[in-house]
Amino acid sequence: MTRYHPSLVALHWLMALLIAVLLSSGGLAPTRMHVVGGAIAAGLLALRIVVRLAMTRHLPTSVDRKWRKRAAKCVHVGLYVLVGGAVVSGIGVAIEADLLAAYIDNRAVHGFSEGALYALHVALTDLLLIAILGHLAAAFWHQFIRKDRILSKIWFGKPESE
Ligand code: HEM
Ligand code: HEM
Repeated sequence: MTRYHPSLVALHWLMALLIAVLLSSGGLAPTRMHVVGGAIAAGLLALRIVVRLAMTRHLPTSVDRKWRKRAAKCVHVGLYVLVGGAVVSGIGVAIEADLLAAYIDNRAVHGFSEGALYALHVALTDLLLIAILGHLAAAFWHQFIRKDRILSKIWFGKPESE
């Protein structure tokens, strides 16, 4: 089993950490922190898409059944799409609530939950949480039940090591 390129590995875990913080802090943390975190997620996602597209021909091999490969591909693409959707709808929420003007005037903002884009942001982030739980369950099944050391694929080390 080969590994993902170290740049993809680093981006994967940075993003996993940030998404965990954003998912658990949305609605709780001061909105400003959430928005800054969301902006960093947008940057990391853009970088990750560029790196991922450049790596298409150097991705690790998978020795799995066809349907599992397909399921993994759907979930992986879904994760990229949902993170993108969360970022775009989050920016929509900020525009709808005129957050930038409120920050400049140092005004508190209330009533996010009334906007349609907020409902979309919540729906997309809920779907993202479900996709991540499925992704985690699959990773743990491989690692601890099938014992195929899948986690080493997404960790640092020699590219060709077993
Ligand atoms: C603690 C949580 C996580 C664990 C244990 C984990 C584990 C893994 C593993 C083992 C792989 C390699 C799968 C393979 O290629 O066969 C992988 C790939 C991947 N993971 Fe995660 N992951 C976690 C969180 C996340 C999060 C939060 C996201 C996105 C929001 C994510 C997105 C991806 C994507 C898109 C891939 C495919 C590689 C790529 O195209 O970049 N993961 N993950
Ligand atoms: C991957 C990125 C993101 C995730 C996972 C995420 C997640 C969340 C969650 C879970 C909520 C709480 C929803 C609820 O009340 O149930 C929320 C609220 C919100 N998000 Fe995001 N978000 C992301 C990106 C963004 C971005 C980029 C912006 C703006 C530029 C943004 C702006 C907001 C605002 C204004 C709220 C409502 C105020 C608040 O609850 O703090 N989000 N987000």
